[in-house]
Amino acid sequence: MYIATLSWLCIMLGYVKRYELKKHIPLVLVGIGTDILLVLYLEVTRSAIATAAEFSLKPLQQIHILFSTIALLLYFPTMYYGFKMLITGERGSTKKAHMKVAKLALFFRSLGFIFMFSMWGLHNK
Ligand code: HEM
Repeated sequence: MYIATLSWLCIMLGYVKRYELKKHIPLVLVGIGTDILLVLYLEVTRSAIATAAEFSLKPLQQIHILFSTIALLLYFPTMYYGFKMLITGERGSTKKAHMKVAKLALFFRSLGFIFMFSMWGLHNK
């Protein structure tokens, strides 16, 4: 939970610094990278995906997993459009697409973050 909180803070701070590319990019990349590594870690240590698929968790915990998964999937188009802007220098429609998916990712990640607290005590009883 501490790592998930740190990665959420990185992404939020990266969003706040969206007009300063030198801060925006490293902050969001560290946040996204940590999130992806965390999911891989949870999968290896706790078979998180199988647990989610079994529907053995409480509704709020299912919601946490659903929203966090949506956010994780949205990171990929966010990074695609972000790097495309950096490589081509193009802004226009690519920037519009980037902003759309990035804000959606942030929205679902933040909701997932709130619902994460329904997981409290699940593994550290
Ligand atoms: C969840 C993560 C992210 C969020 C919430 C986010 C959000 C945003 C937003 C809202 C803007 C528009 C700023 C404005 O109004 O001018 C923006 C611009 C931009 N972002 Fe991101 N972003 C994210 C990830 C990334 C990543 C991973 C990259 C690059 C690899 C990236 C590269 C850029 C670039 C190049 C711009 C254009 C800045 C300019 O106008 O020159 N972003 N981002």
